[in-house]
Amino acid sequence: MRVLVITGAGVSAESGIPTFRGKDGYWRNLDPIKLATPEAFARDPELVWQWYRDRRQRIRHAQPNAAHEAIAKLAQRADEFLLVTQNVDDLHQRAGVAKVEMVQIHGDIFVTKCSRCDFNQHDYPPSQSYGAASERDHQQKRWQIQENGVPRCAKCGALMRPGVVWFGEPLPSHETERVESYLQRDPCGVVIVAGTTATFGYIIHWALRASHHGGELIEVNPEETPLSRFATRLVREPAAVALPRIVDELTS
Ligand code: OAD
Ligand code: ZN
Repeated sequence: MRVLVITGAGVSAESGIPTFRGKDGYWRNLDPIKLATPEAFARDPELVWQWYRDRRQRIRHAQPNAAHEAIAKLAQRADEFLLVTQNVDDLHQRAGVAKVEMVQIHGDIFVTKCSRCDFNQHDYPPSQSYGAASERDHQQKRWQIQENGVPRCAKCGALMRPGVVWFGEPLPSHETERVESYLQRDPCGVVIVAGTTATFGYIIHWALRASHHGGELIEVNPEETPLSRFATRLVREPAAVALPRIVDELTS
């Protein structure tokens, strides 16, 4: 079985991470859709950094839920597997999906990168063991935090920013190429799209392309989305309820 799974914020909702467009997504009365932009960062980098630090903290204290676990199990059992996630948290990884089987198409919230040059660094959560390098990296941050909490690049002096894709920014090409090459090689027998409003055209496009040779297209979402009318199976349930069952069916 060749599988593509696409996830969005709804998959982490049951781990206590607010979705973008849900009611709980607001932060200090601010709309995340407006905060996650290059314009917001240009206007008030301090505010944007405070939001990202809060989110990092929340993610560090969260645990993967049954949806993340089910996807990790499917990754192990499938003949070929790729997860494309819009989530910038690390819960898929912590549930056991290997980095090579996963594309974080909107980036990684634990990366801090320069807004001008190519300098970037992964800010490993101290409690997580992502390998022996983590403690060392953690101690050797090569940027200076200014008094207002905004880091500056040690290489070129420009402001450092979170390593995520903001609204209006292009997707990282090395990541889209990984998705393209997976889709080019062969069609998928099963495509699961879970917990996303599928507002971005590329999400719908990838799901349709992967499943267009008669593959199943399963949508897991309590609500209707622009993808719903293309799905061969609609599961209107929370991801942590539906995915363990779906994965059991597919792997038994
Ligand atoms: P959204 O916040 O737009 O949508 C969350 C989706 O999850 C909605 O369709 C909900 O119905 C659904 N949902 C909520 N709870 C769920 C649950 N327990 N189980 C399953 N589904 C549930 O999040 P995304 O679609 O991921 O991008 O948003 C896409 C992108 O827009 C984000 O990656 C981010 C955002 O702005 C950028 O920052 C570029
Ligand atoms: Zn720089």
